[in-house]
Amino acid sequence: MAAAAVRIEKEGFFGVDLNFGCSVAAICKKGCGAALLKTPELSSKIVKAVRASVSIPVFVKFRTGWSNDPLFAVDMARRFEGAGADALTFHPRVAPDRRTRPPQWDMIRLVQEAVSIPVFGNGNLFEEKDGIQMIRQTSCQGLSIGRMAVARPWLFSQWTNHFLPGNDIYYKTALKFSHILPEHFNEPFSVRLFKKYAPYFCANFKFGHQLLKKTCFR
Ligand SMILES: Cc1cc2nc3c(=O)[nH]c(=O)nc-3n(C[C@H](O)[C@H](O)[C@H](O)COP(=O)(O)O)c2cc1C
Repeated sequence: MAAAAVRIEKEGFFGVDLNFGCSVAAICKKGCGAALLKTPELSSKIVKAVRASVSIPVFVKFRTGWSNDPLFAVDMARRFEGAGADALTFHPRVAPDRRTRPPQWDMIRLVQEAVSIPVFGNGNLFEEKDGIQMIRQTSCQGLSIGRMAVARPWLFSQWTNHFLPGNDIYYKTALKFSHILPEHFNEPFSVRLFKKYAPYFCANFKFGHQLLKKTCFR
């Protein structure tokens, strides 16, 4: 992980974001993502090693853990801070939960109060008003957006800069995405990525599943 972080710094990125949050089975099976929360000592060691190897900011994304215990999340937050993380992103859901139950935003407040580094709250931010509500409810220092960032990538400008999207924004964005991908990746991989993200994009529409069938040549 430290070697990877060094490469990230060399490539000129702003920071390193360490993933202790992904609960996808294929990732956890390899002991990565949220599986690392089962070994708090190892998790802190990773953050420490990465911290020592780069001078750019080190961020940690994590979730509640494997049982619905706020004390565990608070303990992990303190460990990450102690290991040298510059900021935390916290997703208040237990790992087997995926997205079946709503995230417990009140837990973000507990994590935020436990550390002195900034905490980004994450989970179920769909509209600008959700972001305002999360900040009010948790006093978190920042917001982290997952699905909506893929479905509506213009929302950052919309929420912070009064950007008003027109009706053609969906069409324009999908088209732009299809043009940008092959600028960075070979054709088969670009198609794979387009297929991966198209479901999020189509979910903007009530009958998105029908649209997905048409757009994604499945
Ligand atoms: C396309 C996509 C990829 C994601 N990859 C990761 C990941 O690698 N690690 C992680 O901790 N969470 C990952 N997530 C989960 C999000 O970071 C976030 O925790 C989750 O989607 C809840 O936020 P939301 O309600 O805003 O979507 C991913 C989500 C999406 C939509």
